[in-house]
Amino acid sequence: MKRRDKKPWVISVASGKGGVGKTLTTVNMAIAAQRFGYKTLILDGDLGLANVDIVLGLRGRYNINDVLEYRAELKDVLLEGPLGVHIIPSGSGINRLADMKLVQRVQLLDKVEEISGDYDVLVIDTGAGISENVLHLNSVSDALMVVTTPEPHALADAYAFIKVMCEHHGKRDFHIVINQVISESQGLKVFQRLTDITKRFLNLDLLFGGSVPKDVLIERSVMLQRAADENITHTRSGQAWNEATRRVIEHLKERPRSEGASGIRSLLFSHTNQRSAGAL
Ligand SMILES: Nc1ncnc2c1ncn2[C@@H]1O[C@H](COP(=O)(O)OP(=O)(O)OP(=O)(O)O)[C@@H](O)[C@H]1O
Ligand SMILES: [Mg+2]
Repeated sequence: MKRRDKKPWVISVASGKGGVGKTLTTVNMAIAAQRFGYKTLILDGDLGLANVDIVLGLRGRYNINDVLEYRAELKDVLLEGPLGVHIIPSGSGINRLADMKLVQRVQLLDKVEEISGDYDVLVIDTGAGISENVLHLNSVSDALMVVTTPEPHALADAYAFIKVMCEHHGKRDFHIVINQVISESQGLKVFQRLTDITKRFLNLDLLFGGSVPKDVLIERSVMLQRAADENITHTRSGQAWNEATRRVIEHLKERPRSEGASGIRSLLFSHTNQRSAGAL
C-alpha cells in the first residue's frame, strides 16, 4: 500500500559493534521496501567508511563530499540500484566526512530533506560505534533498527548503543535484527537476553525485527558485489530481511502521525536543542 503523504518514513540501521551486518541489512531492507511498492532511497551514512555502493557493485562519479564542497548537486550523486532503489553514496577515506560537525550534518540532512519528498521510505546505514555522526543520524529516524550477531561482545555493544539513544535522545522504539544465527531458536534466545537487560536497566521493551541466518550464499554475493541480487531474496536470510521490513513498516503505519515520520528537518531542531552550542 502506498503512503498518503509525501514525507518518507526514515528507517536508520545501527549496531554498536562493526561488521555485524548493517550494510547488508540496509540494502536488503531497502530492496524489500521497494518490492512492497514503496519508492525507496538509501543514504549511506557510514560517513568516511562508506560501502553501500561497493556491496551493490555500483560506481558513481560523485559522492556526498562533492555535494558538501559544492562540486555537485545531490541529485547528480544519486545512483540507481536493484529494482530501481536510489542510493546516495558517501565517500570513503575522507576525514572531513568522518569528523563532520553538527552544522555540516544539518546541511547534509537539509539537502536530503529537499529530495526526500520523491520517496516513501528512506533507509540510512549509520555506521558502527556511538560517534556524533552515528547518534545524530539515528536521532532523526522514525524507526531504529539495531543489528547484532549472537556474540556476547556484539550484544554488549548493541546494548551500549540502545542505552545512549534511549537516555540521551529519548528513543524508545528499537527493532532488533539478530544476524548470522545458526537457528531460529538461537535468534529468539539472543533477543530475549537483550530484552531482559534493557527491561531491567532501562525499563525498555524491544521489538523483534527477526533472525537472519548465516548463509554462505550471502558471503559469496558480497564477494561478487551483488549483496542484494534477486537470488538473495529467495534464501532464508533474504526472507528474514523481507519479514523485518514488513514488520517495521506495519509498526510505522500504526503510529500516530504526530509521533513519527515528521520529516528530517523538524527533527534536526530537536537534536540541535539537545546538544550544547559548543558542538556547533
Ligand atoms: N547473514 C549473513 N550470512 C553470512 N554472512 C554474513 C551475513 N551477514 C553479514 N555477513 C558477513 O559479514 C560481513 C559484514 O557485513 P556488513 O558489511 O553488512 O557489516 P557492517 O555491520 O555494515 O560492517 P561495518 O561496521 O564495517 O560497516 C559481510 O561482508 C559478510 O561476509
Ligand atoms: Mg557497513
